[in-house]
Amino acid sequence: MSTVIKNGTIVTADLTYKSDVLVEDGQIIAIGHGLKGDTVLDATGCYVMPGGIDPHTHLEMPFMGTYSADDFDSGTRAALAGGTTMVVDFALPSPGQGLLDALKIWDNKTARAHCDYSFHMAVTWWGEQVFDEMKAVTERGINTFKHFMAYKGALMVNDDEMFASFRRCAELGAIPLVHAENGDLVAEMSAKLLAEGNTGPEAHAYSRPSQVEGEATNRAIMIADMAGVPLYVVHTSCEEAHEAIRRAKMNGKRVWGEPLIQHLTLDESEYFNPDWDHAARRVMSPPFRDKRHQDSLWAGLASGTLSCVATDHCAFTTEQKRFGVGNFTKIPNGTGGLEDRMPMLWTYGVNTGRITMNEFVAVTSTNIAKIMNCYPKKGAVLVGADADLVVWDPEKEKTISAKAQQSAIDYNVFEGKTVKGLPRYVMSRGHVAVTDGALTSVEGHGKFVARAPGTPVGKALSTWKALTNPRPVARAGIPASGV
Ligand code: URP
Ligand code: ZN
Ligand code: ZN
Ligand code: ZN
Repeated sequence: MSTVIKNGTIVTADLTYKSDVLVEDGQIIAIGHGLKGDTVLDATGCYVMPGGIDPHTHLEMPFMGTYSADDFDSGTRAALAGGTTMVVDFALPSPGQGLLDALKIWDNKTARAHCDYSFHMAVTWWGEQVFDEMKAVTERGINTFKHFMAYKGALMVNDDEMFASFRRCAELGAIPLVHAENGDLVAEMSAKLLAEGNTGPEAHAYSRPSQVEGEATNRAIMIADMAGVPLYVVHTSCEEAHEAIRRAKMNGKRVWGEPLIQHLTLDESEYFNPDWDHAARRVMSPPFRDKRHQDSLWAGLASGTLSCVATDHCAFTTEQKRFGVGNFTKIPNGTGGLEDRMPMLWTYGVNTGRITMNEFVAVTSTNIAKIMNCYPKKGAVLVGADADLVVWDPEKEKTISAKAQQSAIDYNVFEGKTVKGLPRYVMSRGHVAVTDGALTSVEGHGKFVARAPGTPVGKALSTWKALTNPRPVARAGIPASGV
C-alpha cells in the first residue's frame, strides 16, 4: 500500500519547493509531480517537512525519589500530536550500576512506543566496568554519552571522571553530552538559601544563576578540547553558556548548544507567582531565566551558534511536585513540552520572523539527525529516507490546554498560549499517526534507531588533533626515550 502526499510545498533545511511525495513500506520512494498512490493525503496550503526529532527526553525516568510521569506510550503520543516523529531518551544507570544493565531496563520501557526512538547513555560514575561497557553500548547503536555536572551526591560526575569518559568517547568515536551547571556551587547556594528560610520554588532559581551554567559550560568545552572530542551541551539556557559555546565555535572547536522551547518562551517571573503549585510546576534545571537570555538564545538559533531545539521533557504531576513543599530542593526537577515544541517554535520563531522555515526544520530535525548520526534515514525529505513526515498547516490554530493534551500530567507550562501552525498529518515510518489533527497512531509501532559511532565531525576533529597534538622535539644526540 502506498500513500502520496499531494499539493504541498516541501520545506527542508535548505530548500522550499512544490512537489508530491510518494511513500511505500515506511520509506519515501519518489518525490516529483503527478505521483499516484493507493491513498492520497491532501497538503494544499501546507508545508511538507521532516518530522521533528526531540533529542532530549526523560520518559518514565527514576529521578528525585519518583518516576517522571510520561512513559513511552503517553510521551510518544504527545510527540506525534505535535509533529515530532522521533525522541532520543536517556538510559540512566544509577551510580554503581552497569551501563548494559541500565540499557536492559530502558529496552523494557519501550514496548508501547508510538514513534521511533533512540537512546543516549548517561555516565553517572566512573570505573573499569563503565570504561569497558561504553564500547558494548556503542556497538548497540548508542553513540552519545551524557554527563551531569550538577545533582551533587546523585548523578554528578567530577572533572577527572568527565575527562576520562570524554577520552573514552574520543577513542570510540562517540560524542559526550553535558548538563552544564556547577553542582558544587548549586549545593552550597541551596544549603545557604534553605538555612536563611528561602524554601519556596523561587529559591530553586536563586540557587542556580546563569553564572553556574556559564562556568560549567566553559569548563566542559575546555575538557572536551583537551580530550580531543566534540561536545554537545544540553539545555543551554543563558547568555553566559551561549557565549562560551559561541567563543569555542569561533575558535574552531566542535561544540553544539541545545536551547529548550521552554527557555526560549518562558521566563523567571513564573517562579514569583503567588500560587506555589504554579511556580513548582515550572521548576527545572537550569531554571527559566530573565528575558534578556531569551534574546541571546533566539540570536543563537538565527546565527547558527546554537544548533537544536529540544524539550528535556521530564514531566511530573502536581502531586509529585508537592514533595517539595517546605523545601525547594525536593521538588522533582523537570517540565513537559513534547507536544508543544514544534507549534511553539513555529509561532514564536517563524511567525515572528526570528527564524526562517528552513531554519525551523534545521533546528527541530535535520541538525539533530546529523549531529546524532542518523541522517538521512531521519531528518530528511529524500528518496530512501524513512517516511517520518509532517504536513504542517500554517493557518491552523489552537490554544494550548492541559485538558486536551496527550501528556499524563494535570497541567501544561504553556497553558493558555495560542499557537498558529500545527500538523494536519503526521507520518511515522509511513503510518499516518495524526489525521486532521486527531491522533491515529499505533501503540508499539515505534522502533529503536541505531546510531553508529564515527560521525564525520568526530573524524575530522580526530584528524586535526592527530596533526596538532603535542609531540616530542627530535634533538641530535638525545634519545627520545630518555635512556
Ligand atoms: O530539570 C530537569 N532538566 N530535569 C530532567 C533532568 C535533567 O537535568 O535533564
Ligand atoms: Zn539536565
Ligand atoms: Zn534532561
Ligand atoms: Zn498507546
